[in-house]
Amino acid sequence: MTTFDDHALTAEVLQAFAATPNPRLKYLLQETITTLHDLVRRTGLTFEEWNEAIDFLTRTGQTCTPLRQEFILLSDVLGISMLVDAVNHREREGATETTVLGPFYVGDHRQTPHGSDISKGIDGAPMVVESRVTDLAGKPIAGAEVDVWHADDDGFYDSQKPEYATTGPSLRARFVTDDDGRFSFRTILPCSYPIPTDGPVGDLIRASARHPMRPAHVHFLVKAAGFEPLITHVFLEGDEYLRSDAVFGVKDELVAKVEAQDTPTLPNGERVDGPWHRMTYHFQMKPGSGAVPKPLMAAE
Ligand code: BEZ
Ligand code: FE
Repeated sequence: MTTFDDHALTAEVLQAFAATPNPRLKYLLQETITTLHDLVRRTGLTFEEWNEAIDFLTRTGQTCTPLRQEFILLSDVLGISMLVDAVNHREREGATETTVLGPFYVGDHRQTPHGSDISKGIDGAPMVVESRVTDLAGKPIAGAEVDVWHADDDGFYDSQKPEYATTGPSLRARFVTDDDGRFSFRTILPCSYPIPTDGPVGDLIRASARHPMRPAHVHFLVKAAGFEPLITHVFLEGDEYLRSDAVFGVKDELVAKVEAQDTPTLPNGERVDGPWHRMTYHFQMKPGSGAVPKPLMAAE
């Protein structure tokens, strides 16, 4: 190219990538280049704005640690994570709906006996989760691995706290379903909480006058041989942020009534002072296979 023309530049850049041997990578590169070049032309991007974008992405990378993934958070608040979820799960055929993995799946889940209390030493209203995993016809799936994790009463995940390295996981466990596809555990009632706002994504949220809140939920990742891995949450009915989740992750089918119970004992016979809550949810798995997300701690 001798006489500069911005459209000819795009064509020349595309040509420079034309010999990419992997066809899918070639296609994705071409689409990315075309879309980004169009964006620059359409907006008349200034040098200051370009610099600011580079600085923002640099800070996003610098904020990542083995336990913090600011790029996933950025993808979440831009709705990209839910869009990737949507285009990959168009036909559920009655299977449980999916939602974002989120940045707090650290993959450090210990197999835990049914009925265990995963909230030992943590303040909060008691909640019992009773659940079942089946196929689409309702046949129990025995031996499914179910990772669960959720925030505490102050809205923090264990991995966000400095003591995580020494105390290890809490409000986080793995259950394996029994012959009837069931698993159950005791925990505390989760509350709505803000996504981390002390990094560049928080700056973006403030600059756009958005709120950072997510409605109360428990995360579930269900894996069973012969089925697509299920990444989902169960949200608590009545939460004030169900219609304005900061990461666009709520689907009506994932909202459950979590009712207060006033019997003095939990289903396992344990006595409790005051009311406790019961969450029940039936997970239906779609036949197939699929990649299980790489845990944060295992990222190279
Ligand atoms: C979460 O629910 O853990 C979460 C998901 C997306 C962004 C931030 C937090
Ligand atoms: Fe969460």
